[in-house]
Amino acid sequence: MSALDRRQLLATALAIGASAGWRRARARPSRLRARERRDLYPQGVASGDPDMHSVLLWTRRPFDDGRASATLTVEVAKDPAFQQVIAAAAVPVSAAADWTCRALIGGLRPAQIYWYRFLDAEGAASRVGRTLTAPAADDSRPVRFAFVSCQNPTQGAQNAYRRMIFEDEAAAPQDQLGFVFHEGDFIYEMTWYPEDRPQGMYDRRLRDLIRYPNGEKIRDFHIPTDLNDYRLAYRTYLLDPDLQDARARWPFVAMWDNHEFSFLGWQSLQEFKGEVRPSQTRKVAANQAWFEYQPARVTTPKGLARDPFEPPAVHDAPIDQFDEHGLGREPNNLAAIGSLTGYRAVSWGPHVELIITDQHSYRSRDPFGRPEAMPLSDPAFLDFVPQEALEALDAGRDYAGGHPPETLLGQGGKAIPNFRKSEPAQTILGAEQKAWFLDRLRASRATWKIWGNTQGTLEARADPQNLPAGLTKPWPGAGYAGLSPGDHGTAFRERAEIYDMVAREKIAGFATVAGDRHSFWAGLAAKALPPARFEPVGVAFITGSISAPGMVEAVEHNLPKDHALRPLYLAQRSKADRPEPTVNLLLRHGVRACLEYAASGDLEKAVAVSNPDLAPHLAFVDMGGHGYAVVRADATALDVEFVCIPRPLESSGREDGGPIRYRVSHRAELWRAGEPPRLAQRWLEGDPDLLLTTIG
Ligand SMILES: [Fe+2]
Repeated sequence: MSALDRRQLLATALAIGASAGWRRARARPSRLRARERRDLYPQGVASGDPDMHSVLLWTRRPFDDGRASATLTVEVAKDPAFQQVIAAAAVPVSAAADWTCRALIGGLRPAQIYWYRFLDAEGAASRVGRTLTAPAADDSRPVRFAFVSCQNPTQGAQNAYRRMIFEDEAAAPQDQLGFVFHEGDFIYEMTWYPEDRPQGMYDRRLRDLIRYPNGEKIRDFHIPTDLNDYRLAYRTYLLDPDLQDARARWPFVAMWDNHEFSFLGWQSLQEFKGEVRPSQTRKVAANQAWFEYQPARVTTPKGLARDPFEPPAVHDAPIDQFDEHGLGREPNNLAAIGSLTGYRAVSWGPHVELIITDQHSYRSRDPFGRPEAMPLSDPAFLDFVPQEALEALDAGRDYAGGHPPETLLGQGGKAIPNFRKSEPAQTILGAEQKAWFLDRLRASRATWKIWGNTQGTLEARADPQNLPAGLTKPWPGAGYAGLSPGDHGTAFRERAEIYDMVAREKIAGFATVAGDRHSFWAGLAAKALPPARFEPVGVAFITGSISAPGMVEAVEHNLPKDHALRPLYLAQRSKADRPEPTVNLLLRHGVRACLEYAASGDLEKAVAVSNPDLAPHLAFVDMGGHGYAVVRADATALDVEFVCIPRPLESSGREDGGPIRYRVSHRAELWRAGEPPRLAQRWLEGDPDLLLTTIG
């Protein structure tokens, strides 16, 4: 490490308002008299965004004696007993940052484990945290990291983290995780107070953990309205022992999804009850709270984000003007979404570059969630929307080379106006971020270029055109149906733009890892499915939620027992049995397989009537799974293992986090550019039951 590197690190630390520490020439035992007082650091410790030589360290130490600020010391050591302390730094905390702080420690060695703790002036110390630095650019050893999303301690238990910790502690050093990529829904801003929903949420008991001081009640739930409300959510979530232990064990690389701001939020707008509301002040508050609680190398208009965060002065102003990329040009909107830029890339040795994007701050309005789109869905067909309608809504005025249809087929075959015919095509990334993303992807020299898209990219579709006549109304669509639009699974044009570039530039080793769908998916990244040409350019994975409820749990409670299409989602052959999730068959094999299974209970017979054109892109779907995913990447292969746990209704109370439902791996050998990627599946543990097998 040169003097220049050191100067750069200090300049960086100064720029982000973080305290800076530097590795000493020689390690020595701590001279501080530390007494661990976890009660004084109720949210524990964390580390984030490590690179080869540095890492951000975080804690929160509130003081309630009336002072506005204090100074802590952070110590970094090569051992958990602090006999070999290699760096120390003074770190201010203040009420202005909700008593959170971060320190950037530099001069570290690549691929090393370090231990750290914070102490106040009286020697009261935080718990000891563990962190790791990234491997050097020429370190060709395999890389391991986990990706996770969607945790909600008000509705469930974080057993998945406990399992992850247990397995990592038991693993050989070379098999341990390097970091955890958190793909968002770190908090859920919507919270149900127990009295508002005495029946609980599906199978869940509602915990009385959060009461927003200035919250707003919408229907039966509550949302934050200001900085204190958002901060309260983070403070509360981080009291969860499993989450807190996970943050103390590994560095996290965090990105927000929707719930860090607002359920149906886009740019600085919120949508509730079909109304779009300007919410610039809330977007800034959400960004500030995120920044205070997530140690991350994110930026503001001035450069790397500063501690304490300097919120721009904004007010909630209507946004009337949207540019040709759907971006609201209203100045308060631009200031609010510009107050924190989260998209960034993280390198981990020569094999992994994780390119992380933001799917909410720049996106154009979701065309599928608009009130005008409601007549496209028919309750008789559950969540199915004709594929051609989804494509028209996605493309807007660019549909079919600038020839959008005047009308779309709605319920019962009725024509409804194509409200998108003169609007620009949908973008989820927005123009500026997309340009950055494509450049970064094109320039990446890593063996595996991994798109950290917090939302899924794999298409979810069904084949209602194959329903037997008479079961329900005739399907009004021309063919396939899309389900659950809103992410890159139905952002057809933008996804094609990205995948076309991957093909054109002959980029091998392209993968995406995602969260948000509360379900496990493994498959191939392709811009189109049959009857269009199916030409995969990469591999794609989605992890189940840590604890938030998933679709299977919801339909078990909400899908009417007498619905004609119930067998496509659930099969229940006797009253005593728990319903089985046939939706996993629906997405991979189609309606005929579901109906066969519901009638005979014979999986082999069901798969024998599979529709092979429905989902050649899918190797695996489990719409009811919870847990986490582990990536192993080296010079020749990428392996993603899903670790699925039972529905996490309550804490297992066990050191290992409780039982495993199954463990399955999907592996891609590195392909040459122009060759099709392939996935091979291995069942490692548990029963495949309705989830079943390979692409073939
Ligand atoms: Fe979620």
